[in-house]
Amino acid sequence: MLSKNKILLSKGINTKMVACLFDLDGVIVDTAKYHFLAWKRLAKEWNFELTEEQNEHLKGVSRTESLEIILKLANHHLSKEAFEKALQDKNECFLEFVNQMNESEILEGVADFLQQLKQHHITFSLASSSKNARNILQKIGLLEKFDAIIDGNDIINGKPHPEIFEKAAKTLNMNIKNCIVFEDAVAGIQAGKSAGMKVIGIGEKHILHEADIVIKNLTEISIEDLKKMIA
Ligand code: BG6
Ligand code: MG
Repeated sequence: MLSKNKILLSKGINTKMVACLFDLDGVIVDTAKYHFLAWKRLAKEWNFELTEEQNEHLKGVSRTESLEIILKLANHHLSKEAFEKALQDKNECFLEFVNQMNESEILEGVADFLQQLKQHHITFSLASSSKNARNILQKIGLLEKFDAIIDGNDIINGKPHPEIFEKAAKTLNMNIKNCIVFEDAVAGIQAGKSAGMKVIGIGEKHILHEADIVIKNLTEISIEDLKKMIA
């Protein structure tokens, strides 16, 4: 009886036609705050106080590009060697936080929502700029859940370039038009939109206004909503 209901339900919402592409930091897990703390600590060495507002420009972009942005903001110059060392220091500091992580840091609504996607046979991929993505997923026990994982090691062009989402769609064998991106970063939303996908912003409306819709967390979206977005 239960399985019959399930079949009826999935037929009704045509879930085979939807795929979800998730950013990691700030969408699946609360690591965005650790990136901020690590950059803040580094910038302090040059007497630069990185603000939360400035940090919005770092979200979603690669480690190297983030450092370039901070140096510009701080009006600070580093030699090639010092630049490489700064990247390494930042990552070591970030990994100190990551190493303490466990599944309690999965963001509200995520575990339930992924479970619902599985129940409805909706495929989903990770699409994160982070080169630490697999390590983080392992820490929070979600590594095996995703149908595909595309991360910072798999792309040449970082967000806002659409490459990462195009690659995720291709890996899932899904049409671009049927993909829905979940993003907390302006650069990520722009990447999803330039890929021609629907984008759900996770966070504040006034920051993420380029998204198709903005929600606070994944408790605010249903499988039915996904279907309507694609229709
Ligand atoms: C993104 C974060 O997910 O990954 C960025 O939003 C970060 O803040 C980028 O710079 C790269 O991460 P990592 O772990 O490779 O330094
Ligand atoms: Mg993010």
